[in-house]
Amino acid sequence: MTNDLFVHGGQVADLTSTRRADVLVTGGRIAAIGLDLNVPEGTASLDATGHWVLPGIVDPQVHFREPGGEDKEDLESGSTAAVAGGVTAFLEMPNTNPSTTDPAALTDKLTRAAGRCRADHGFFLGASAENADQLGEWEGLPGCAGVKVFMGSSTGNLLVPDDATLERVLRSGTRRVTVHSEDDMRLKERYAAIQPGTHVREHHHVRDVETAVRSTNRLLDLAEKTGRKVHVLHISTAEELDIFRERDLGELVTCEATPNHLFLAAPECYDVHGAWAQMNPPVRDKRHQDALRQALVEGPVTCIGSDHAPHTAEGKALPFPQSPSGIAGVQTTLTLLLTAVNEGWLTLQDIVRLCVAGPTRVYGLEGRGDLTVGSVGSLTVVDPEVRGPITAAHLKSRCPRNPFEGVERAGGPVATIVRGTLTWQNGEPVGTPSGEPVRFS
Ligand code: DOR
Repeated sequence: MTNDLFVHGGQVADLTSTRRADVLVTGGRIAAIGLDLNVPEGTASLDATGHWVLPGIVDPQVHFREPGGEDKEDLESGSTAAVAGGVTAFLEMPNTNPSTTDPAALTDKLTRAAGRCRADHGFFLGASAENADQLGEWEGLPGCAGVKVFMGSSTGNLLVPDDATLERVLRSGTRRVTVHSEDDMRLKERYAAIQPGTHVREHHHVRDVETAVRSTNRLLDLAEKTGRKVHVLHISTAEELDIFRERDLGELVTCEATPNHLFLAAPECYDVHGAWAQMNPPVRDKRHQDALRQALVEGPVTCIGSDHAPHTAEGKALPFPQSPSGIAGVQTTLTLLLTAVNEGWLTLQDIVRLCVAGPTRVYGLEGRGDLTVGSVGSLTVVDPEVRGPITAAHLKSRCPRNPFEGVERAGGPVATIVRGTLTWQNGEPVGTPSGEPVRFS
């Protein structure tokens, strides 16, 4: 594999503009961008006429379930769904079985990924009371995306519910710590009060706004106290966005939005999709959706992650609240964002900022962030004219259902290039999986 590719005829969309330009990738890095490029004879080429050429989309939050949950997804099926959705690199969460809580478990995931992942990949270490003081030693290991904290219980058994342990985690190491922010004490009280027969529609009242707000305030207090940078995953409330604005902690705090909170709203999503719209933190009503959409454009949302979290049909059929939380969206994020571009409330530059530059800034990805000479030669090629509904036939995840099925597309990825290698084109995988561990700077 040469990792050389000449992508010609397209409109290049980077952080600042969309313009006619060709891209030459050599040895997996961008060698030149522009017109009338000097292309070495014999270089493989891709005709992008009529298409948009974006820097490779990064999904900074996926759950691919391997090891221990391969009936739901594995690194092969998950990464195939990723590249089918235009994602060239992903960061995977530690709540597998066993959880990724030490170097051996991290190495195990990297070994499993080699030769089976179509996209580049990094894996988080999960924080616990047991490993809190060692995380600083381990967070710099190759392929490690950093440390993930669950402040509230969700899928799996990772949990740091108390401030004392959280402070130990924040004092161990220097990389930004990424956090699922829901207050576990309040969750325990509220789950204990659920009456039999409660409908999943109540999910966003059970895991209410106060559950998220309380936790996020505690987290920001500790970030200020320790000076450790934190990242709040899958932000779900207008109130937390206001807290970020009011507390104005600059680079100390960044946050992520998911397409689930941006494109679904309660109560309709629960009425239509039942437990398939159930995730943590929950999809809430339109007031929160509107605030999140505004925060994508005006801040403070730093990046978008799918929080791809597949479950089985048997699991989702369990009565609430036994039904597991999670929505499988790694493949649909970009398509949904393109509908927003078509509707006019997001731009291509917003997509590059939120799906490439944002994750790069938050997690310190090496050589990514924009389309520039010398950067990683991963590209996502989009056809703005793709139309028709998202259907189950398109979706490559093992997850049997996605609440975005039926949504009318207004553009979609048609080719995914990972470091100069075409890995997906026109609905089909190309070649053998050749994803590599993401490098961090
Ligand atoms: O809804 C969710 N599902 N939220 C999480 O925090 C975990 C995820 C999963 O792994 O299922």
